Amino acid sequence: MAEDYGWVPDGVDITVPDASRVYDYALGGVHNFTVDREFWHRAEAAFPGAALIARANRAFLGRAVRWLAGAGVRQFLDIGSGIPTLGNVHEVAQEASPDARVMYVDIDPIAVQQSRSLLDGNPYAHVIEGDLRDPEGILYHPDVLRLIDFSEPVAVLTVAVLHFVPDSADPAGILKRLGDSLVSGSYLVLSHAGPEPTPEGREAQERVRKLYERTPTPVIIRGPEQIAALIGDDFELVPPGVASATDWHPDPDEADDPPQPTALVAVARKR
Ligand SMILES: C[S@@+](CC[C@H](N)C(=O)[O-])C[C@H]1O[C@@H](n2cnc3c(N)ncnc32)[C@H](O)[C@@H]1O
Repeated sequence: MAEDYGWVPDGVDITVPDASRVYDYALGGVHNFTVDREFWHRAEAAFPGAALIARANRAFLGRAVRWLAGAGVRQFLDIGSGIPTLGNVHEVAQEASPDARVMYVDIDPIAVQQSRSLLDGNPYAHVIEGDLRDPEGILYHPDVLRLIDFSEPVAVLTVAVLHFVPDSADPAGILKRLGDSLVSGSYLVLSHAGPEPTPEGREAQERVRKLYERTPTPVIIRGPEQIAALIGDDFELVPPGVASATDWHPDPDEADDPPQPTALVAVARKR
């Protein structure tokens, strides 16, 4: 089927929904297929307001990067970066500091291909295909070592990706191994699917979770304490700690956005 789409890299299966393309569609992007769009329509029917969660997550990402740039961070390693859309990390970071370095990493070849074409000619932003479950494969990748100076602070972003990593893949160990490569004053940024606060909400969430079970990336819901435990003691949570995306350093322009208790986020500083 791939020959119908000249821009689709070889080996990409467009007959199963994919996390990056479903999210791209949820945010209004065009790099997705019928199967992704149908999946998203089913998810939205099961869990009305799901698009608001995606938007709240994306808005958090922008605010977190602006906050980090304000804190003096000039290097970003964005793992599970996704298909480029509005407010990409290098755009936000390089607006604050034109020589900010951004390394994008994603497991999806389409996300990598689209990022590569967007970044063409940008000396300070690159992309590689990589797997969060193999942190050394990312940390020791020659392109990463060329761009990122690990003797200086780095912000590692794992935004809306850790909920695709099951306990059996040891997400806490993955973050520990990433954290061990960072100097003091570096940061970890994450967002993660959290539990709905009401029984009706949890029922709706369970329907979506069951939908994702039929994809290559089932979703694991984790609560604030579990997320804090993933971050571990090597990092200190930046206030307000593990919080809803809409409560993390809210922008006055976004003050009317509805609260999103299931989009949990955190920024933490390496001690
Ligand atoms: C929901 S999107 C989030 C994109 C972006 N971080 C954001 O929050 O706007 C999740 C991304 O994680 C990627 N992903 C899923 N599992 C991954 C893994 N094990 N390693 C790297 N990327 C992964 C998907 O391909 C997708 O692009």
